[in-house]
Amino acid sequence: MKAAVVKIFDTTLRDGEQSPGATLTTDEKLLVADQLVRLNVDVIEAGFPAASPGDLAAVKEIALHVRGSAVAALARAMISDITTAWEAVRDAEQPVIHVFLASSEIHLAHKLKLSPEEALQKIKASVSYARSLCPTVEFSAEDATRSNWEYLCRVCETAIQAGATTINIPDTVGYTLPHEYEALFRYLSEHVPGMDSVTMSAHCHDDLGMATANTLAAIRGGARQVEVTINGLGERAGNTPLEEVVMALRTRPEAFGHVDTNIQAQYLLATSQMVSRLTSMPVQPNKAIIGANAFAHEAGIHQDGILKNRLTYEIMTPQSVGWNETKLILGKHSGRHGLDARLRQLGHHLDAEQLKEAYTRFVALADQKKEISDSDLIFIVESSEETP
Ligand code: KIV
Ligand code: ZN
Repeated sequence: MKAAVVKIFDTTLRDGEQSPGATLTTDEKLLVADQLVRLNVDVIEAGFPAASPGDLAAVKEIALHVRGSAVAALARAMISDITTAWEAVRDAEQPVIHVFLASSEIHLAHKLKLSPEEALQKIKASVSYARSLCPTVEFSAEDATRSNWEYLCRVCETAIQAGATTINIPDTVGYTLPHEYEALFRYLSEHVPGMDSVTMSAHCHDDLGMATANTLAAIRGGARQVEVTINGLGERAGNTPLEEVVMALRTRPEAFGHVDTNIQAQYLLATSQMVSRLTSMPVQPNKAIIGANAFAHEAGIHQDGILKNRLTYEIMTPQSVGWNETKLILGKHSGRHGLDARLRQLGHHLDAEQLKEAYTRFVALADQKKEISDSDLIFIVESSEETP
């Protein structure tokens, strides 16, 4: 019986930080780690300690500092990387060593210059070494979605026998499609001996804009951990955005067998804004959940609907993810109901005739300006009052 909880493995500080220009100092990483604990993520992947002395120092600090979430360090399937990763996380309350090796023919032949059998030997040696150090070991089959499925089964079985406690099936280059990825998880859980004793994990990239859809499909296929980043930060087109997966599971629980995460969703916006500010990576206004327009309505028909019953155009409340309220934006698509509602908030209660006149002036101004501010509205009303 699979758990009803999907673990959130946040890799903002490792895969996310690999995004060009998103480099963070150790102090900034500690701020983000604190916020991830507040958000209640299960695992914080803090970095790749063998990559640089700075990364090693940062992961060490995070491991010493964080309480409440597990702290993971990435390592290639090499004894030296794993030793360094362990040095970095050994003081964590719940340390995790995350070992990876590619399983696709493209990576084995062209990047690693290893035969499939040699790769299996490397997995066995590296995972069993990691497990001799640390009780929780994740193994990732890099480029899993472009790997031969039968060979991938052997890769997973080798890692499980060597002591891996989590098996991650990354879509490293954002290549898979939701129905394929779901089928791959089902296939692996049916064909890999011991898969039911470990946690299956999904890790997606957004090269075709399908990272969220693929991650959700993996959950339907049996994944009980998802690897995500805040704002979808990550190399190239980025990783799966944490906020999208969390809110999809909360908004459509019936589609996922009612599994949920442990995330405190009211901190999603603050976390997004912190990561955006520290990495200097702006969030697009129309980004789901945390974009400035995610709960903003300009069209008259929509504003009218929202004012009558918010369920007409909102599938979650803005407050549930950290916004104060729904925004009714006044622009050229807005209607009289939206104008009246905003004017009332500003203390102007117009009768039908006054509202008709204010609306005519408002539409004329909205044709010239993208957005009408409160001071524009006050000007419209007050200048109407002065007109004889
Ligand atoms: O995308 C990927 O394959 C990775 C692994 C290191 C897990 O980031
Ligand atoms: Zn990745």
